[in-house]
Amino acid sequence: MVSQGYAIVEELAEFGATVHTCSRNQTELNDRIKEWENKGFKVSGSVCDLQVRADREKLMETVSLMFDGKLNVLVNNVGTAIIKESTEFTAEDFSALTITNLESAYHLSQLAYPLLKASGNGSIVFISSAAGVIALPLCSVYAATKGAINQVTKNLACEWAKDDIRVNAVAPGITRTPLKRAITEDFKNNEIMNHLISRIPIPRAGQPNEISSVVAFLCLPTASYITGQVYCVDGGFTVNGFLFGLPIRDLHSPVQSSSSIRDLGSPSSFSFSLQVFTLQVFNLFNHRDLLLFNQPLQALVQSSSIRDLLQFSASAFKSSTSSIIARLLLCFFLAVAGLLHYSRDITL
Ligand SMILES: NC(=O)c1ccc[n+]([C@@H]2O[C@H](COP(=O)([O-])OP(=O)(O)OC[C@H]3O[C@@H](n4cnc5c(N)ncnc54)[C@H](OP(=O)(O)O)[C@@H]3O)[C@@H](O)[C@H]2O)c1
Repeated sequence: MVSQGYAIVEELAEFGATVHTCSRNQTELNDRIKEWENKGFKVSGSVCDLQVRADREKLMETVSLMFDGKLNVLVNNVGTAIIKESTEFTAEDFSALTITNLESAYHLSQLAYPLLKASGNGSIVFISSAAGVIALPLCSVYAATKGAINQVTKNLACEWAKDDIRVNAVAPGITRTPLKRAITEDFKNNEIMNHLISRIPIPRAGQPNEISSVVAFLCLPTASYITGQVYCVDGGFTVNGFLFGLPIRDLHSPVQSSSSIRDLGSPSSFSFSLQVFTLQVFNLFNHRDLLLFNQPLQALVQSSSIRDLLQFSASAFKSSTSSIIARLLLCFFLAVAGLLHYSRDITL
């Protein structure tokens, strides 16, 4: 399993770019560089802790020296996540996430600006996240840093277009990297992750090379008219509304007969029973006699007890207006059953 940074270096080097990368770990960096040399790629690297301002400055000095003061592409990939309830984030968590994910990318862009401008054809790509676009569980601070990256993308794009620098962001969805593995080591997080994956229209995690190919595209001359954009590369995760929320087994199971009671668990049949319920209520309430039943019905809805409902149903059948009440209750019962069944599915 490789990280997205690794895949991005390979993708750009395969296009013939000369790449300089960085890592906190000298041994790992040396191993990777040797690997890339063997593949014939032009890749060098520096040891750098991107949380440290002085390290970032040193890194960009090295880059400036190596590339004669000109740079075509800056990819701000570094990022880390802390998974917690919002009430549990400490001040240290908050600053670690904002420094690594937001401040470092912002500062590197400032440092790279004169080099990108000097090249006459500069491009910055931020690696954001789907979590910066939609609300996901247990990651409010991470999400805030990525949401901020999305906005910085738009501001810098407008500010630096005059300098022939394009600025875009790629927002990956769930991607198979060491970061994802670290997050899901905890059983509860793994369960949440599996449920999130079941909500992706293309129901799987992405691969790092499915992200790096979009990064490379944004750096190429073919993307010369694209700036200020945030591309979600997420299998459709961020455009999913209500439709794809069921476990994968249900999404892929054969369509069942519409008369089957099990159909109450699918979103379409749920909305069907709700529509029927609504129509019946309107029809019945337009009927003057039935205004009498408005109050008990409301009381039942408030108590939302199935036993009350059945008792009411039994007594109603004894009354003279039994046929209309029976229809009303049957429809109401179906709607409640559908709601209970469906809400059980979405809280899995
Ligand atoms: N994987 C996903 O599902 C996913 C989804 C959306 C967005 N993203 C974003 O994609 C980007 C890449 O993440 P990934 O999934 O490839 O994660 P990853 O496998 O954990 O890679 C992150 C890399 O950042 C490095 N790093 C962390 N802090 C650093 C620091 N202070 N200085 C220098 N390097 C540092 C790590 O190096 P060390 O090995 O030294 O720790 C690691 O190589 C991140 O911005 C992440 O937020 C990932």
